[in-house]
Amino acid sequence: MNLIRRPRRNRQSAAIRDLVQETRLEVTDFIFPLFIIEGEKTKTEVESMPGIYRRSLDLLLDEIQECVDLGINAFDLFPNLPESKKDKYATESTNPDGLYLRAIGEIKNRFPDVCLMTDVAMDPYSSDGHDGFVENGKILNDPTLEILGNMAVAQAKAGADMVGPSDMMDGRVGYIRNTLDSQGFTNVAIMSYTAKYASAFYGPFRDALESAPRFGDKKTYQMNYANSREALVEAELDYAEGADILMVKPALAYLDVIKLLKDNFDLPIAAYNVSGEYAMIKAASRNGWIDGERAMLESLTAIKRAGAKIILTYFAKEVAQLKANA
Ligand code: PBG
Repeated sequence: MNLIRRPRRNRQSAAIRDLVQETRLEVTDFIFPLFIIEGEKTKTEVESMPGIYRRSLDLLLDEIQECVDLGINAFDLFPNLPESKKDKYATESTNPDGLYLRAIGEIKNRFPDVCLMTDVAMDPYSSDGHDGFVENGKILNDPTLEILGNMAVAQAKAGADMVGPSDMMDGRVGYIRNTLDSQGFTNVAIMSYTAKYASAFYGPFRDALESAPRFGDKKTYQMNYANSREALVEAELDYAEGADILMVKPALAYLDVIKLLKDNFDLPIAAYNVSGEYAMIKAASRNGWIDGERAMLESLTAIKRAGAKIILTYFAKEVAQLKANA
């Protein structure tokens, strides 16, 4: 055959494939989510997330040290609280002696150079299991903002470098920005959960935190997965309200949304490779149905290829270990 164009020429050896490879994962692209629980020398595996643990602070510090040694420099912390610490107002979220804020302080004390991201939303502390303030079965937007603003300031005071509002209330980015600034925390960044969809893929995370909604679902605040243009509306608001980084969540079923934000905004784009996405790959690979390591690398590379420079992923340590042993 007389073929002038033979795309296979660029695939014929590993050396050439490496030369033309467009997207490469770096350990510095990752933010590793961590789960903390009260206690000492305590470590319980999240059943639906093999390899992922809720750890007491002492063991969590050891885990962070291992990750730092592997080159991971960014972490996102989530608390698992006993039912007795939860109430309607998420009061525990601003308790300076509480598990979460104490842990932030100790982590930053021991690891001043890491980027510690914290979560701003009511659900881990709420007896209703919702991200906002509940009254008569409704999630109220504006009363929630004050609670979120106080939560963000408490986390900033404890040492957080970046806050991540994951609640999807209207106006929260601007409210949090103003509140942080008015208290002198102009350097604390906001990674907004800009396009956070009402997703079936959060199940294992809610197991990890025991934070599932006690009634109803999150569809009046998280987005409808059938919509992509709505993500542009959210992104325009977050941009105008001062977000530093825009995040899409989940990641794998939303690669088009990642690309949409990447093409339309000049802020860094992040994606959250969520618990259910992790669980699917782990479950199938445990059954011998897929090669877990290859599926992991393919998924993460696809998320980056779609336009997310930053990836929040439970696979962060595993990839870092692979690279270290390569
Ligand atoms: C809630 C929150 C959720 C996740 C991060 N923050 C779950 C939810 O909205 O119910 C999910 C993360 C994951 O599934 O890995 N504020």
